[in-house]
Amino acid sequence: MRIKYTIFIVFFVALVIIEKENNIISRVSDKLTLKQTPQTSLRPSGFSHILLKHNVSLSLMNRRLENYSEHQEGMTRSRKHILLLTTTRTGSSFVGEFFNQQGDGMFYLFEPLWHVEKMMTLDTRGTNATVAAKAYRDVLQQLFLCDFSLLETFINPLPVNHITPALFRRESSSSLCEEAVCSPFVKGVFERYHCKTRRCGPLNLTMASEFCLQKEHRAIKSVRVRQLETLRPLAEDPRLDIKFIQLVRDPRAVLASRMVAFASNYKNWKQWAMGGDVPTNDDEVKKLKGNCDNIRMSAEVGLRQPPWLRRRYMLVRYEDIARFPMRKAREMYRFIGIPLTQQVKSWILKNTQSSKETSGVYSTQKNSSEQVEKWRDSLPYSIVQVVQRVCGPTLKLFGYKFVSSEEMLMDKSVSLIEDKVFSFV
Ligand SMILES: *[C@@H]1O[C@H](CO)[C@@H](O)[C@H](O)[C@H]1NC(C)=O
Ligand SMILES: *[C@@H]1O[C@H](CO)[C@@H](O)[C@H](O)[C@H]1NC(C)=O
Ligand SMILES: *[C@@H]1O[C@H](CO)[C@@H](O)[C@H](O)[C@H]1NC(C)=O
Ligand SMILES: *[C@@H]1O[C@H](CO)[C@@H](O)[C@H](O)[C@H]1NC(C)=O
Ligand SMILES: *[C@@H]1O[C@H](CO)[C@@H](O)[C@H](O)[C@H]1NC(C)=O
Repeated sequence: MRIKYTIFIVFFVALVIIEKENNIISRVSDKLTLKQTPQTSLRPSGFSHILLKHNVSLSLMNRRLENYSEHQEGMTRSRKHILLLTTTRTGSSFVGEFFNQQGDGMFYLFEPLWHVEKMMTLDTRGTNATVAAKAYRDVLQQLFLCDFSLLETFINPLPVNHITPALFRRESSSSLCEEAVCSPFVKGVFERYHCKTRRCGPLNLTMASEFCLQKEHRAIKSVRVRQLETLRPLAEDPRLDIKFIQLVRDPRAVLASRMVAFASNYKNWKQWAMGGDVPTNDDEVKKLKGNCDNIRMSAEVGLRQPPWLRRRYMLVRYEDIARFPMRKAREMYRFIGIPLTQQVKSWILKNTQSSKETSGVYSTQKNSSEQVEKWRDSLPYSIVQVVQRVCGPTLKLFGYKFVSSEEMLMDKSVSLIEDKVFSFV
């Protein structure tokens, strides 16, 4: 399919080049009319001979070619919709900033699906995964089109006249705190809901929508989508030019991080870490396996590059971003097809304490490597074994080395991160 298409284009380009040469020749011939013999003007040139053989009119061909290049130009200029797909404790807020910091051309939303998930956990009838996946998909689709109406139905309390003081982490989306989206702050009424950069009243979602429509590109970060496959309708929506970036991290490191960050939900794990046997059939272990399987299955779909995902999927490891933030940011923007702004570059430099990539890169890299492998100090070998057992295929796919002894776990001179290239740009 792809080869045919390429041949098609090569054929067209070849025709144009030949045609241009013909034009030059004919213009030259015009000037040399005296030398031109009737025979040469009547005999089809090599090019027109091809045309006649294929019964294609030159002007029609030109028009098609014009259409094609216009189409290409339109594609490169057009608006991009970026979805950063990940799970908790993978550095996704950090990576989200790569888009939040892009500046005037980008409308960025931080975890809008929080409201959807929250509402569904409140649903006493119990919402199943299929229903949740559909809700996530539909809300995302609308948001990429700057339509907040479906999201509104999930916000609690329900917004009145599209005004809400309750949008989750509004201040994490710089677009929602800009002057154009900042309604007057009334002292004493909504004291808690102003932005960091300026004091704003509750969010007027109509204003947010209008502002969003003016922005060239739109990006959303979400830790809630379970299966990439469920988002296929977004990739096929002709109104969207969507780019999925899946961010993954070593599941052993994620577990270690969650045990600290979400301590109350990880009591069992903490107990096991202190020396209990881990029951193989425990719900917590099954949940871990379920999470790992979802992440792996999404990545497998993405890496397989089915036609609906072609040029729309990129896999990024947290560990690579931590070690080479600027390089990975550049790769992501190249994949999306828009330029990385100076503002993002400055933000990355400031927040990774790295100087220019050419100098001082090694010390930063070394330091970040240490950060990246820090979990090895806190996660006991017995728990590491459990994760490796239930998340084995996931570790393998992403290039995270298995440890086979406590000594290997503790010996940080041996990195557990294999070099691996996943991008297909
Ligand atoms: C070439 O195109 C003309 C006009 O479209 C058509 O009438 C004719 O049958 C075609 N000839 C061949 C060989 O396909
Ligand atoms: C070029 O595009 C226009 C508008 O999309 C269309 O009407 C026309 O048929 C196209 N021309 C060719 C030769 O494909
Ligand atoms: C999920 O719920 C919907 C509607 O309540 C139902 O039609 C569907 O069969 C359920 N799916 C599963 C897998 O339970
Ligand atoms: C919200 O914003 C819209 C559009 O700018 C405006 O028409 C409306 O009056 C605003 N609502 C309130 C309560 O200020
Ligand atoms: C790593 O970087 C941090 C922040 O710059 C610094 O405080 C720390 O000492 C560094 N650690 C090493 C081992 O260089």
